[in-house]
Amino acid sequence: MIIKDFANTLSDKGESLASGSARMDMELFMDAASNKYHHEDNPQGAFALNVAENSPMVAAMKHKIEKIFAEVSPDDWIFKYTDALGHPPVREVMANFMNQYFGPADFSAANIAFSAGAAAVIEVSTFVLLNPGDVVVIPAPAYPMYTNDLALKNDVERYDLQIFETSGSEAKKGGLNVEMLEKTRLELDSQGKKIGMLLITSPDNPTGKIFQTSDLLDMAAWCHQHKIHMVVNEIYALSEWKKEKHDSFATIMATMQSEYLHLWYALSKDFAMSGFRFGLVHSLNQAFVKAYGNANIPHMVSNLTQWIVGTIFQDAAFIEGFIKESKQYLQKSHAMVTALLEKFELPYADAEGSFFIWADFSRFLKVGDESEYMAFWEEMYRKSGVLLTPELGFGQKSTGYFRIVHTAVSIAELSIAMQRLEAFLEEKM
Ligand SMILES: Cc1ncc(COP(=O)(O)O)c(C=O)c1O
Repeated sequence: MIIKDFANTLSDKGESLASGSARMDMELFMDAASNKYHHEDNPQGAFALNVAENSPMVAAMKHKIEKIFAEVSPDDWIFKYTDALGHPPVREVMANFMNQYFGPADFSAANIAFSAGAAAVIEVSTFVLLNPGDVVVIPAPAYPMYTNDLALKNDVERYDLQIFETSGSEAKKGGLNVEMLEKTRLELDSQGKKIGMLLITSPDNPTGKIFQTSDLLDMAAWCHQHKIHMVVNEIYALSEWKKEKHDSFATIMATMQSEYLHLWYALSKDFAMSGFRFGLVHSLNQAFVKAYGNANIPHMVSNLTQWIVGTIFQDAAFIEGFIKESKQYLQKSHAMVTALLEKFELPYADAEGSFFIWADFSRFLKVGDESEYMAFWEEMYRKSGVLLTPELGFGQKSTGYFRIVHTAVSIAELSIAMQRLEAFLEEKM
């Protein structure tokens, strides 16, 4: 039994949350989720290629966890309270892992903390670093849920700094430099607004672009000079398939030793564990870590999850093999989708990492306005069963882009999804 239609019983924010949806593609996503493709049981079913999950790697992680539960008995500490930053021995294990894959760097149990997924890490970090009204500058297009994660509870403002309008050389270059940041700072300053944070995602969501170390170094120096916090979200760090080794912002942090530089990571993507809710923040700012611990209690990772994660990440050979296998899948799924885009001469961002292809479908639009675009998105889904993420909320200037998550389903399923999409696009030509 649920009491219905009780308007005006909530806070202002509660009222607004009760009338909206966390994601604008939620309704069709629910439709696709309830009609999921299965080669035998539901061959006409749908493919939700709109949610960033590492589906091809779920089986490998599941197998590892089954093995742990069969062979190892959980420690007694999991039944008790622990340090709000994360259980110290598990922080030790994760710091070793981070030094290996994100180093050379200064990770230690004392300068990392865990929260329930990257979303919680983003929210708690913002709470501790910024004041209400501060502006977070993000190179756009960017992850739409940043708006919620940064600002739902913290009352900060998201500012999309447009760096990507077309595919090709501009996208490859990175397109963000200190001059652009300084121009934005002065512009906001003239409006009486203050930049509190520069937020970079690398590899990026949705373009898959990797920001070059030299560019990040320049931006970090500029941020330090202006007392602006700079955070690099490397949640897709080990999903770069063109390079062996990830060049992490952590190395710049170790070199600069600045209290304004921070790093976010989570196991949701690279390790196919989005449901485990395990996020991590790294900062050399001791006051930040102290404050984070005090703010983090409602956002802690459960001890059972911390225990499993600590046990998995002690097995260095498993981690190495897992990353290798994941990269092989990524290469395959990326190639499968880009082959279709090439066939229809649809431009797309030159991704080097992440799970995404940011593709321009505007050649199928005549008017090019939002209502035609949204109608095209829905028609694509209704006719092909393939659901993509629309560009709304990403801060993309032009109309016609969709984000394709090439890891959202297995390779075999992706092949069928691409055949369906091909038939739909043929018909639209
Ligand atoms: C760039 C970025 N940050 C954060 C998140 C949220 O991750 P989590 O599921 O760990 O909260 C996502 C998920 O799609 C993401 O793409």
